[in-house]
This record gives sequence, structure tokens and C-alpha cells, in this order.
Amino acid sequence: MIKIAPSILSADFADLKNDIRIVEEAGADYLHIDVMDGHFVPNITIGPLVVKSIRKHSKLIFDVHLMIENPEMYIKDFVESGADLITIHAESTHHLHRAIQMIKKEGIKAGVALNPATPVSIVEDILCDLDLVLIMSVNPGFGGQKFIEGSINKIMKLKELINLYGLKTLIQVDGGVNLDNINEIVSAGVDVVVAGSAIYNSKDIKETIRMMKESTK
Ligand code: DX5
Ligand code: ZN
Repeated sequence: MIKIAPSILSADFADLKNDIRIVEEAGADYLHIDVMDGHFVPNITIGPLVVKSIRKHSKLIFDVHLMIENPEMYIKDFVESGADLITIHAESTHHLHRAIQMIKKEGIKAGVALNPATPVSIVEDILCDLDLVLIMSVNPGFGGQKFIEGSINKIMKLKELINLYGLKTLIQVDGGVNLDNINEIVSAGVDVVVAGSAIYNSKDIKETIRMMKESTK
């Protein structure tokens, strides 16, 4: 069964506690938290303070997606705020493996995200040290963008590598996923689906999450 990770980027920030409770009760598995710094991506969102505040109100796996420069500088802060998984971008640091080691040393799970133009081969030699690889299926920075079709092929390539090395690394996809394309995307080999606007902008959040799981069984 696939795991669903609602992205709070599309939630109502004035009513975050309630919007998190809604997805948790609806059967979400992870809570996807998009951290943007206005440098790595052209948008600014939330920091460790907010993560710490919402941590008290949720038991979901806190999946922190760092879209920031110098991610190493903030790993400890996000761990202390309550992250269960930190994903950093391959493009955001010169020392990707060292940053991954830093995350794992804190005792939480570590992931690497790849922008649409970054090939999966960039993580091949460190795949055995990763808990998760995030395939960005839009250019990071904003919710509500259109899914980039080439991402399907990329997910399949990554799945092949994971199988080749006999690993259990999870594949996550993020950007433009909705009820119309989720089945094809998951069939390519995805384990964890991030969805922001498709969940939070839907009329019935519970039903949308149920249908996402049902249609990919
Ligand atoms: C984009 C973020 C995504 C975003 C996805 O940079 O990483 O997590 O919230 O939003 P949707 O599902 O609306 O494309
Ligand atoms: Zn994200």
C-alpha cells in the first residue's frame, strides 16, 4: 500500500493545527513540510519554530523537505523541532554524503531530493545510505504546478537501480500529483506520494485520501 504525504504548503496557515488534524484523521501517513529559503527556490515558507509548534499536535511522520542552501546548517534545528525524516536537495550542497551522514547521526531518516534536471545517477553511489529518494515532478518552489511527464521515466530508472542493488530505499514523488495521474505514477515504482493542492483544495479531504489509496491498490 502506498503512503500518502499531504503537503501543508497548501493548507490554511492561519488554521494549521486544524488542517493537520484533518489529514491525520483522514488516514495520511506522513506530514510533508516544505521549507524554502528564498535562495535555493524563489519562495519563503516555514522554519524550525513552526515545526516545533505543530509537533505537539500530531503523531504523523514529520517529513521535512529542505529547499534551502547550506542545509547542513539547519539539520540540528529541524531534528530538535521534531523531524522524523529530513530530505535535502542534491543540488544544494557540495558534500551531499556528509550532509546525509549528519542527518543519520541524529538518529532520524535521511532522504535526497532531485530537481527535474538532475539525473538519478547522481545518487547511485550513495543509494545504500539513503532511506528515501525524492523525485521532484515539478520545479520546486510552489504548490499547484503541472506534473512533468518525464518524471515517470525517472522513477522507473531509480526503481531499477534500487532493485539492482537489492535495497529498500523508498521512492517519493512530489509535485502535480492528483487523482487523475496517481495510478500511473505509483505503477512506475513510487512508495510515498506527496500531494498538496490535490488534497487541501479538494471538497472532501478524507475521500480524496481514501481514493488515492484505493486507486493505487
Ligand atoms: C513544491 C513542494 C511541494 C508542493 C506540492 O516545491 O515541494 O511539496 O507542496 O504541491 P502540489 O501537490 O500542489 O503540486
Ligand atoms: Zn515538497
